[in-house]
Amino acid sequence: MTATPGPDRPPAARPRVRTDLDGLPLFRGGAAEPGTIGLDCNESPFAPPAAVQAALSGAARGLNRYPDNASADLTARLAERHGVPPDTLSLGPGSVGLCVQLIQIACAAGDEVVVPWRSFEVYPTVAGTAGALVRRVPLTAGHALDLPAMAAAVSDRTRLVFVCSPNNPTGTSVSRSGVERFLAEVPPDVLVVLDEAYAEFTGLEDDPLDGFGLVRDLLRQGRTNVVALRTFSKAYGLAGLRIGYCLSAPPVAELLARVAVPYAVGSLAQRGAVAALDCEREVRERCRHLTEERERVRAALLDAGWHVPVSGANFLWLPAGPAAEAFAAHCREQRILVKAFPGEGVRVTVGTATENDAFLAAAARFAPLDAGGAVRPTPLG
Ligand SMILES: Cc1ncc(COP(=O)(O)O)c(C=O)c1O
Repeated sequence: MTATPGPDRPPAARPRVRTDLDGLPLFRGGAAEPGTIGLDCNESPFAPPAAVQAALSGAARGLNRYPDNASADLTARLAERHGVPPDTLSLGPGSVGLCVQLIQIACAAGDEVVVPWRSFEVYPTVAGTAGALVRRVPLTAGHALDLPAMAAAVSDRTRLVFVCSPNNPTGTSVSRSGVERFLAEVPPDVLVVLDEAYAEFTGLEDDPLDGFGLVRDLLRQGRTNVVALRTFSKAYGLAGLRIGYCLSAPPVAELLARVAVPYAVGSLAQRGAVAALDCEREVRERCRHLTEERERVRAALLDAGWHVPVSGANFLWLPAGPAAEAFAAHCREQRILVKAFPGEGVRVTVGTATENDAFLAAAARFAPLDAGGAVRPTPLG
């Protein structure tokens, strides 16, 4: 019989685990809720292309075997696609898995990680798992990364800097020349991570970043401290498969492999990603459709008096300030899920045209909380 805790039983001693993890925020994520329109997780609204689904069912019969730990087929395909040697590529269980590995190879307790803020909420958490200290550098008034301030925040204890472009949740992008100026300020032994989870939705900017192209160029010049991350979760619509990839100097890739969880990238993920690369035209068409929808939704919101920064991603940022939670709650009442950042704003993912229309209708029904324009602030220009 198993012992059950009771009032007469002394509380079990706590195992000797790290107490510095107690303060780490718990990542809750957003699970699909039946009967709602989910615009809260920056997912693709489209099911994976039929050819990807077919490849996945075909691959199911081999699931009694472990996956290829080197993901050789997929690595070769990505190397060819990006014009880089295979030993510069690492695959991981989502690009977030690679963020964890990058922190593991760069940081020990007491080291510092510089992040823009607000940005992807996982950065401070993964830094915290290594006991690293996080220096948050505020965004500019225009909701963009302040690269000069981030460079100034780098100290001799800094081991890693996250540069998120387009930035989650604000959608703003940094330019290639801006990043080059930033890199000129950062010591060449500090790892700089260009997180481009939404790269495929950009394209309207002057001087676009293309971090993969930049890292490729830097590697040819012998600069080894800059890496770029991409994912199959967003543009490719494979968030449920959990697969992302990293371009880095080979010694960095080798370290990433050393800390990787064995077989972390499953065979379905590898097979699905290869099949998705075969559907490039369809994927590009979907991205084009979503970026058009993004511009349509943004224009409608601007017309209605909202302030909405230009976005290069598959989501929009509404800096609603104190009304953020009320607006998200209002949307939820209309069965539409958006992501609130209390006191700051609301991030809304671009969905299908029908979903976007439902969101716009809900936004139009939202009564501003005060006449001073907290919900619909004066545009910043
Ligand atoms: C900026 C950014 N990076 C990385 C990720 C992680 O993506 P995944 O782990 O699904 O590849 C996300 C997910 O939302 C993101 O917004």
